[in-house]
Amino acid sequence: MTVGAPGHFSIAVLPGDGIGLEVMPPALQVVDLVAEHQGFAVTWTEYPWSCAWYHEHGAMMPEDGIERLRAHDAILLGAVGDPSLPDHLSLWGLLIPIRRAFQQYINLRPARLLPGVPSPLRDTSRGIDILVVRENSEGEYSEVGGRVFPGTPDELAVQEAIFSRRGTERAIEFAVSLAKDRKKQVVSATKSNGIIHSMTFWDEVFRDVMAKHPDIEGRLMHVDALAARFISHPHELDVVVGSNLFGDILTDIGAVIVGSMGMAPSANLNPSGEYPSMFEPVHGSAPDIAGRGIANPIGQIWSAAMMLDHLGRPEAHDVIMRAVHRVLGETDVRTADLGGTATTAEVTEAVLAALRSELEG
Ligand code: NAI
Ligand code: MG
Repeated sequence: MTVGAPGHFSIAVLPGDGIGLEVMPPALQVVDLVAEHQGFAVTWTEYPWSCAWYHEHGAMMPEDGIERLRAHDAILLGAVGDPSLPDHLSLWGLLIPIRRAFQQYINLRPARLLPGVPSPLRDTSRGIDILVVRENSEGEYSEVGGRVFPGTPDELAVQEAIFSRRGTERAIEFAVSLAKDRKKQVVSATKSNGIIHSMTFWDEVFRDVMAKHPDIEGRLMHVDALAARFISHPHELDVVVGSNLFGDILTDIGAVIVGSMGMAPSANLNPSGEYPSMFEPVHGSAPDIAGRGIANPIGQIWSAAMMLDHLGRPEAHDVIMRAVHRVLGETDVRTADLGGTATTAEVTEAVLAALRSELEG
């Protein structure tokens, strides 16, 4: 996962739309402060590709967009999406092409309950610390399919899911590699009782991979039961692996049980390091609160911390997370999604202050 520890990083910044534009500056400020203290440098190159850009140019990014991003060490993304444009255009015009061109076949999403953050669950005394590995390049999110007899009573749509042995195996192997440093357990989301071709295949690959790792306890669970388990027994879950769709749904549950969509980070990883990886909060552009300066910046800050970890700066990741823990655990500075009254700017100031004291103390 680590690509060396050089002293200088070139990062592509895609703030996107809505609150993406509001939570990105806090993350850059936090990283700049850590870099200054820990002796590395970050050059940010901002690209305005977004729904707004689409309305001007007729596309979510220029034709050479992927080429331009390729030159960077990593990509930090806010969120894209605007009510003025159908969501499938923004998603398929920017995020999915990036994830695929750069073989970011792992989407890593921690669901960790931080101190001082209220969960909607009644009893979280045993903690929540789940690491979801979502297959990120194939599965249910496929362009294979089509429509027949459009506009007639016989109209129908076909949507194919794609599961390759290579794609499935590497997602599960990645989950196993994480489990080795944790509780040595992997739960795999399936639905092979109903989805009898692709999911029985997924189960078969899971069993094959687990057979190679006798030290890891593997368990298959139907995704509906697993979704319920995220609510009823989150403390019993550790590493969870799922297909593109199942991972997407489970991580929204993961995000709310640890307090808010606004807290959850994610990494789109190209594990070989051949291409840049992309880091983004799980949340979207939140048009319902955009423009009011009240978005929670912690998901974006945490995503930037994951980026530094990936770039070989684990100490930078750790100090950022200590600062976030301090703000949430020791102060009542928090945004409305966490029941507070603070603005994005006030939370950012509190994180920067905690960070300064961590770095100088
Ligand atoms: P959303 O995550 O934008 O919002 C869901 C709810 O969570 C809203 O009530 C929102 O106010 C709240 N929320 C989200 N982030 C927050 C934050 N940082 N602080 C405080 N509250 C926060 O999901 P939604 O509404 O389904 O999608 C809105 C747009 O975002 C759509 O256009 C969608 O396509 C896009 N989207 C983009 C993603 C991306 O760029 N990776 C991911 C998910 C959605
Ligand atoms: Mg989602």
